[in-house]
Amino acid sequence: MQPIKLGVNIDHAATLRQARGVDYPDLAEIAAIAEKAGAHGITLHLREDRRHIQDADVYRLRKTLTTRMNLEMANNPDVVRVALDVVPDEVCLVPERRQELTTEGGLDAAGQLEALRPTVAALAAQGTQVSLFVAPDRRQLDAAAALGAPYVELHTGAYANASGDALKRELDALHEAAAYGAALGLKVNAGHGLTLANVGPLLDIPNLDTLNIGHSIIAHALTVGMEQAVRAMLAAIRR
Ligand code: PXP
Repeated sequence: MQPIKLGVNIDHAATLRQARGVDYPDLAEIAAIAEKAGAHGITLHLREDRRHIQDADVYRLRKTLTTRMNLEMANNPDVVRVALDVVPDEVCLVPERRQELTTEGGLDAAGQLEALRPTVAALAAQGTQVSLFVAPDRRQLDAAAALGAPYVELHTGAYANASGDALKRELDALHEAAAYGAALGLKVNAGHGLTLANVGPLLDIPNLDTLNIGHSIIAHALTVGMEQAVRAMLAAIRR
């Protein structure tokens, strides 16, 4: 069995930059550090409201990344246009609501088959591997297979937020969905809300290809990088 791969989502490095409208942190540098540390791919979400990742980031990172670019986006002509221009290695189609803090639910692929079909076909035609971000639900996995998407990404948000009996239920649902997806011939990724503390039990799920993890890694980077950053500023002011 192949070891599980890690896709590092760098959206929230851009959140920090956009909060001030400055040009740091440099996303290409952040991505390069993640790649040097062993990340198998870099994930970024071009949201309709452009709250973190900007179009220019997608174009620039397409040139600088040395691993796979996984572009997350809604099935919206405005962002699909960028994906058709940039030709990412992978596009993960996600649901999107403007008011949400983050991607709160899975894509209703089963309910939107006809709307998704042309987007999936256009991306596949240019060689982009399509993934659908879905809840661990057989109907949604059937829909992904019907659309000919090679990948699904199982939404782990409910698992990440659960405790007690619910936690066991959510973990069982992810196990079951991963096995069902693999039986349909889908490659199965997972992500959302994963942390150092909750990722462990997912490693027992056979057939998982890649975990896409962002917020907790960016937050942890602040903790582990703080000492070095303060020392650098002290050195600068004591020059
Ligand atoms: N996978 C998908 C499809 C997502 O939309 C997100 C959040 O943008 C992630 C993974 C990463 O989630 P988190 O930032 O909670 O690790």
